[in-house]
Amino acid sequence: MSFDGFQWLLMAFNAIEGRTICENWVLRRGKGVAQVFCSMLEVQTFFKQKFGAPPVHIVQAPGRLELLGNHTDYNQGVVLALAVDRYIQIAASPRKDGRIELASTAYPDTETFLADHIEHNPNASWANYVKGVLDELRKRRIGFNGFNAAIHGNVPIGAGMSSSAALEVATALTVREMFPYSITDSGIGQPPARDAKNNLPSLNHNERLAMAKICQAAENNFVGVKSGLLDQISSLFGKAQHAMLIDFLNLTVEMVPMIGDIVIVVCNSGVKHSLVGGEYNELRRECEAAAAAIGVKNLRAVDPKLLNANKSKLTERQYQCAYHVVGEIQRVTVGERALRGGDFEQFGQFMFQSHDSSRDFFKNSTKELDLLVALARKHPAGLGARLTGGGFGGATINLVRRLQVESFMADMARDYTKQTGIEMEPRVCQIVDGAGAVLR
Ligand code: GLA
Repeated sequence: MSFDGFQWLLMAFNAIEGRTICENWVLRRGKGVAQVFCSMLEVQTFFKQKFGAPPVHIVQAPGRLELLGNHTDYNQGVVLALAVDRYIQIAASPRKDGRIELASTAYPDTETFLADHIEHNPNASWANYVKGVLDELRKRRIGFNGFNAAIHGNVPIGAGMSSSAALEVATALTVREMFPYSITDSGIGQPPARDAKNNLPSLNHNERLAMAKICQAAENNFVGVKSGLLDQISSLFGKAQHAMLIDFLNLTVEMVPMIGDIVIVVCNSGVKHSLVGGEYNELRRECEAAAAAIGVKNLRAVDPKLLNANKSKLTERQYQCAYHVVGEIQRVTVGERALRGGDFEQFGQFMFQSHDSSRDFFKNSTKELDLLVALARKHPAGLGARLTGGGFGGATINLVRRLQVESFMADMARDYTKQTGIEMEPRVCQIVDGAGAVLR
């Protein structure tokens, strides 16, 4: 059924029962699917309010959870990641005067600029993620013109679930919907043609990789965070009910089933992290300096034996950072095997070890994250828990026994609030497919 078809159906339910469209849909379909459609309606309504007509295109890009493998991506290591059912959506329509107008439900003011004049506005730093992508597309000679865009989403900001990468990916896809382009590492190809239903073909593997790199470049160059490729690849390559095993040396993505009596729960510590803060770039510098001191290109080339043999060449801090990264790469490799064998208990132990390593060696945890992991560890339903993403705040990812998930969430919320005074609502996350267009 088309998006319009769904919408009419929902409006009919609405008229019959006097509930909101979203309430009806949630009642009928359960939360997961429902939330996606509610958000789509919300972004569409927001666009209409701002720009006075319905949008022509809607795209969505999911946030991600780093399941195992912390700060290994820019060390050319491996990561297990999940795309999850928290999305950034963009509703958009082209306009003819060469202006771009951005509105976001998260910020009161709109941001307007010329398509060929993209600059930072210190009063609208949220728009940098969009502008950065546009700037990188321009650098690669991808043509686009003016447009209106309304941005809406439910990826929590500052929770370590990559709201910024989801916004970057949604931007690159929005431009592709309006001004079709094809790009791979070998350069620009023939623009893709629309089919009889006006749909563009899905991105192939190489196009997705190139898009992920464009979005990463936006973050590195325009935003100023020297992040790796994890978040953008996860948002673009995700597959429902699967973890992605991403190898950043060879740039391959393999799917590992995540099916069993387990649930993924996110606990947001309520302490925001902002990678723009500089700690992230500092950690990256330490890792790169450690690799250089050992005499290798990156920490992927280092195993524990080599690291220890070179300990005297490293500063204490370089050694700690390298110890964490080298251990994480090993844990991902053995963790993948545990997942393929359906051994979630063993996998959960690797998650706890990963967190301990972040806390004690990499030092990118916080006391709130440590508390959340400690609470999960002593709960009978808590198979594994660790901080997810950059660190310095944000959320933990928890692997939880399905049958006891309700008690896990209730106990975590109660005990965390009791000890910190911070309200915390654990959330179940479904593993979903990666980014794409939802309305053309
Ligand atoms: C952030 C960065 C990623 C990755 C993680 C840590 O999310 O954007 O590139 O480095 O931190 O694994």
